[in-house]
Amino acid sequence: MRTRVGIIGAGPAGLLLSHLLHRRGVESVVLENRSRDYCEQRQRAGVVEHGVAEVLRESGVGSRMDTDGLVHHGIELRFDGRAHRIDFPGLTGRDVMIYAQTEVVKDLIARRLADGGQILFGAKATSVEDVETDSPRIRFERDGEADVLECDVVAACDGFHGIGRRSLPSGVARTFDKVYPFSWLGILADVAPSCEELIYAHSERGFALHSMRSPEVSRLYLQVPNGTDPADWSDERIWDELSARFALRDGDWTLERGPITDKSITPMRSFVTEPMRHGRLFLAGDAAHIVPPTGAKGLNLAMHDVTLLAEAVAAWDEKGDTALLDSYSDDALRRVWRAEHFSYWMTTLLHRDPEGGEFDHRLQVSHLNRIAASTAAATELAENYTGIPLV
Ligand code: FAD
Ligand code: DHB
Repeated sequence: MRTRVGIIGAGPAGLLLSHLLHRRGVESVVLENRSRDYCEQRQRAGVVEHGVAEVLRESGVGSRMDTDGLVHHGIELRFDGRAHRIDFPGLTGRDVMIYAQTEVVKDLIARRLADGGQILFGAKATSVEDVETDSPRIRFERDGEADVLECDVVAACDGFHGIGRRSLPSGVARTFDKVYPFSWLGILADVAPSCEELIYAHSERGFALHSMRSPEVSRLYLQVPNGTDPADWSDERIWDELSARFALRDGDWTLERGPITDKSITPMRSFVTEPMRHGRLFLAGDAAHIVPPTGAKGLNLAMHDVTLLAEAVAAWDEKGDTALLDSYSDDALRRVWRAEHFSYWMTTLLHRDPEGGEFDHRLQVSHLNRIAASTAAATELAENYTGIPLV
């Protein structure tokens, strides 16, 4: 089998890349280890940045997002038993879209298939070879059979545990890593959200986040110790703990409860690989970098990487110009490091460090008070959250 761009992974990065390349007349094949159903049901992120929503719209895959997604003009920071709103349009002129990653993936798969695109589900890439030549190839297995995808360029969009990054010859890349001493217990619940905008809550008991998927479905997260088994958290215990962390001093707010339909644990980690390219192998999305989810950046970064990569491949295809391919890694890493810092900053600002003490807690509250009191401090948060336009 032969194609121009061999893409490993049908997550948001691989699918959007294949879609954007198709729009520029560049052929690709996507190899995906899992089934279509699995890819469409995997619960993950929920916030789409302003600029990423524009990319989806402009490339013709934004219509369901615009109908079913929820435009959010701000978030609430809740700390010290008080609520403080961050007004995105007032501070930045931008807003964000609440639209689940599962829906972005469904839209992209449907569109690729309608456009005659090739996504091979159940195809597990096993190695990437000859990336230092003009004709790299991906070896893969499907239905117990070994096969090969020959291409001009390989895009590893295969997530943190994929094989793309591990195919880099030793000594080529450097990695930067930070593991946090806590995780998130995430739930989906069939209950109307108890808020109109997302609530990021700092409390002595630890961090909590109230998000949503629709006017009928809530998504909530609790900071828990690493190694937590979700089975130790009964539904009642989860709701009690969430209520305690979101409690306002004046008691003027109630968290509505409903049937919990999904429980999962997300470890918290920061990770970057440099460079994001070697020869004809390009890394994009979680294959190259991970952020802790507090800043809602993982999905957005993945989409930004492939927007750059699609443009670079198209310029090469149309004009034989390799300048954008050559600068891809540096261009992508500028945004990656900005998002790494913001995600680290939001995480350390809002979580209770199990090894920290009262001093750290007081510093966090002081910083949160500063954000509540200062337009400059609030703007810094809002610009990063809604997505900084970087060129
Ligand atoms: P992925 O979505 O991981 O897609 C990679 C694809 O490659 C997968 O479909 C995988 O099956 C496939 N693949 C892997 N190996 C192979 C192989 N050898 N051959 C073929 N295919 C392969 N971000 C947030 O902003 N907020 C959140 O709440 C949040 N929650 C998360 C929860 C979890 C459990 C995880 C893992 C991530 C979460 N993220 C969150 C991060 C966000 O979802 C990711 O940043 C985003 O999915 C990255 O997209 P991607 O396409 O780069 O990678
Ligand atoms: C969601 C996840 C996040 O990490 C975040 O910061 C905001 C929302 C979500 O899943 O809805």
